[in-house]
Amino acid sequence: MIHRIGVLTSGGDAPGMNAAVRAVTRYALDLNWEVVGVKQGFAGLISESFEPFKARSVSNIMQHGGTILGSARSQEFKTPEGRRKAVANLSKHKIDAMVVIGGNGSQTGSLALAEMGVPVAGVASTIDNDLAGTEITIGVDTALNIALEAIDRLKTTASSLQRAFLLEVMGRDCGYLALMAGIAGGAEAIVIPEMETTPEQVARILHDAHKRGKCHAVAVVAEGARYNAEKMVAYFREHKAETGFDLRVTNLGHTQRGGIPTLQDRWLGTRLGAGAVEALARGEKDVLTGINQGRVTTVALKDIVGKHKPLDTDLLRLAHILEK
Ligand code: F6P
Repeated sequence: MIHRIGVLTSGGDAPGMNAAVRAVTRYALDLNWEVVGVKQGFAGLISESFEPFKARSVSNIMQHGGTILGSARSQEFKTPEGRRKAVANLSKHKIDAMVVIGGNGSQTGSLALAEMGVPVAGVASTIDNDLAGTEITIGVDTALNIALEAIDRLKTTASSLQRAFLLEVMGRDCGYLALMAGIAGGAEAIVIPEMETTPEQVARILHDAHKRGKCHAVAVVAEGARYNAEKMVAYFREHKAETGFDLRVTNLGHTQRGGIPTLQDRWLGTRLGAGAVEALARGEKDVLTGINQGRVTTVALKDIVGKHKPLDTDLLRLAHILEK
């Protein structure tokens, strides 16, 4: 029987996390469970940064990006001693189960807790959308819209001065943000980690666009690509690659994580937060709560942790056809 649960957010913050924290808290309170907010992710389990949560603790937070709980990438939790301390603190504070809101690294942490006997429900949250077991994660939509707005804005100035822009977006191991924003923004080139694109290829694409009479060109480059924006430009400089355009570089960096959550991310956070509590109430444990075919689903953490989520690289062909 569950009497008290803990909730934490971990890893890179994602717009919509607050909606998930709110849903977890209020849904659990409605079941007459007690709720403890754990500050600073797994580090907070070790340092006993626990705060009893009531309905009012999560008032007025959905419209804010980031996470009211704070987050961390805890090195100590990666050690056996750190994990033992975390589990001992959970039992000291009579916390029967945990909800962990986060991406790949965080769900690896969830599995570690689960393997030490703590029932866990993970909530899929990362702007990268690289978590297996769910079609989409909290934060992606907001990050995509920020990238899209950047492309639109760059095109305006690029057209005025007949320039090309390299726009670097986040995505350490996954090109989802670059691919989706690139297609929706009508980029001339998209460079992702999943498929190597050389600087010569990008130079050729930009040059062709110039020859076809385009007055601007945008290449969206994922930070995790072998040739990220910095390497691409260094190569262009060294090899005097001819793009036809005067070239500029913009790196969106963490601005993509800082946005006001879109409707989609508030909705996703709400549904997944409530879904995680429902799963625990049904007696499920050690699962990731995600979305598949429009429905809230759960999958065993052990089946998704460390798994690679494939990206539909065929979409690059579509992008290439449409940029003409
Ligand atoms: O949360 C995912 C992510 O934003 C990646 O896209 C990026 O590579 C990484 O986090 C950056 O991490 P940090 O905020 O620790 O610099």
